[in-house]
Amino acid sequence: MSEPHPNNDSVTLENLVDRRLLSRRQMMQNLGAVASLGFSGAAGLTAGLGEYNIETKEALSFEEIEHGLSQRHVVAKGYEVQFLVRWGDPIFLDTDEWNPQTQSPELQAKQFGYNNDFLAFLPLPFNSKNSNHGLLCANHEYTNAELMFPNVTQKNKLRKLTREQIDIEMLSHGHSVVEIERKGGRWKAHRSSPFNRRINALDSAIRISGPAAGDDRMKTSADPSGKKVLGMLGNCAGGVTPWGTVLTCEENIQFYFEGIPHKTSETRACKRYGIGTSRSYGWSRFHERFQIEKEPHEPNRFGWVVEIDPYQPNSVPVKRTALGRMRHEAATVSLTPEGRVVVYTGDDSRFEYLYRFVSDEQYDPKHREKNRHLLDRGTLYVAKFSEHGTMNWLPLKYGEGPITKENGFSSQAEVMIETRRAADLLGATPMDRPEDVEENPVTGKVYVILTNNTERTNGKTNVANPRSPNRHGHIIELIPPQRKGKPDHGAEEFRWEFFIMAGNPHNKKEGAKYNKNTSDQGWLSCPDNCAFDAQGRIWIATDGAPKTSNVADAVYVSETVGPNRALTKQFFRAPVGAEICGPAFTPDCETLFLAIQHPGDGSTFDKPSTRWPDFMAKTPPRPTVVAITRTEGGLIGT
Ligand code: FEO
Ligand code: CA
Ligand code: CA
Repeated sequence: MSEPHPNNDSVTLENLVDRRLLSRRQMMQNLGAVASLGFSGAAGLTAGLGEYNIETKEALSFEEIEHGLSQRHVVAKGYEVQFLVRWGDPIFLDTDEWNPQTQSPELQAKQFGYNNDFLAFLPLPFNSKNSNHGLLCANHEYTNAELMFPNVTQKNKLRKLTREQIDIEMLSHGHSVVEIERKGGRWKAHRSSPFNRRINALDSAIRISGPAAGDDRMKTSADPSGKKVLGMLGNCAGGVTPWGTVLTCEENIQFYFEGIPHKTSETRACKRYGIGTSRSYGWSRFHERFQIEKEPHEPNRFGWVVEIDPYQPNSVPVKRTALGRMRHEAATVSLTPEGRVVVYTGDDSRFEYLYRFVSDEQYDPKHREKNRHLLDRGTLYVAKFSEHGTMNWLPLKYGEGPITKENGFSSQAEVMIETRRAADLLGATPMDRPEDVEENPVTGKVYVILTNNTERTNGKTNVANPRSPNRHGHIIELIPPQRKGKPDHGAEEFRWEFFIMAGNPHNKKEGAKYNKNTSDQGWLSCPDNCAFDAQGRIWIATDGAPKTSNVADAVYVSETVGPNRALTKQFFRAPVGAEICGPAFTPDCETLFLAIQHPGDGSTFDKPSTRWPDFMAKTPPRPTVVAITRTEGGLIGT
């Protein structure tokens, strides 16, 4: 989907892994620690302990489930799966129940949207640790018209969909906030809550702030100010700020626009972002703003991180342009030792980059309102990895280095609108599709999930992306330096390691690497989203597991330190066709929420491969948020 980039390095995988392990051995010797190194057995035994002195309190004792494909989900024994909210469930009182035969835009506007992705649980009341009552915040990334409407197929949908159906699709996009509560062990969504809201792609007003707001290249005929846009698109993963707002990421914006890039004033930007060259959803038939020849600036108004305040249901969401424009996957927040806000984000396309934003000002935990503009002022950086086990964050600043007039930039606004091109000029490391990026709250290390890259050929490997092709993805661990006894997420230089190389370890060609005790059921493919529990264990959700190997997308968990580091265990498996998104825990880690996205993908409304979760005649599968708890109560995983 994106242009290839020049090769940075040509080391083999084995060489590279050896080199990275050697560098770790030297590091540990320097620290005076005894190290037993390798990806197998005690791999990484010392990697966390030497530096952070962490102990894991309780072992992961659940019985692992098996690989397989089925119409129903599968969860580890002793766990219960509740369907919390499904596509089409009304989240307001004054509306009818969902009926797939009579769906309408008016009804969809008041229902939970399609293809739930990122999830956050924000406790009620604000700032509490309440694990039984809170706001569920859910992204709705995109739509599968062939599974939403009768008589529609992948092939015929571009010409067949009516204006009404396309408006239903637009209203199914975006984000939902739903008040949820657990009583007597049962989770329930409250339809009458004043917090409930829908933000959609059709008519939700969103403010644009930061360096690109008001720039000429952000103005359209409907918005001469360049500061207000209707809706958001492709909302994939996200993050939560310490001041209780949600960051949601616009990812695959290229699917919404049509036209010929060189007939516009934005040819270069359109090409670099795949706009006008990708297949589309056909919305421009009824909504002219998606025709790039008519509105060449409209694409510039998408591809941002959007901040939503779920505690204030009437607040206007804000596109924060200081975080750059790309196919943002996730935006997760860490703090520097003095309290500046760091947002990690990846550009999920083949050969695209990993980014980090650092705010100029500090987070104020006492005055919520004072944090409103933190994400408007700061510096965006892009990652460059070196084979010496270090990586550097390079600033994307107008007037610095190659980001100049001579290279086609005339302001910081343009650097943000064409972030990808600015990062090209800095020589950033092209990655294998960065999806989630998250800090382990216990160790302070940052995990970068790289989902796969089947287009990476031999000549295009680099030190951090050594497999060609990379069918199964890998996970990199970033290690910020310590300052004032805390990880310094604002530092210019970090160290890095591989955590796992995904794939089937029995298939030697694939070059997979895990703990040697990982079972035949515990290997994974295409890691996408992750979450950490309070003990610092990583929960990994996948998207794109190889169906031919009878492997469904699933949730796996692993320790990140100690003898069981990189020992992934399979906990939950999705119904056929679905990927798993948005793992999120309640503060007590006794409920795990999962977003089951596009169940039945690859089939149609009329002939679905599963009718999960309802299994009712004439009812298509429905993207659904599930809540998983232990039947007997207690921590998930132990
Ligand atoms: Fe929407 Fe990159 O997954
Ligand atoms: Ca994703
Ligand atoms: Ca995905």
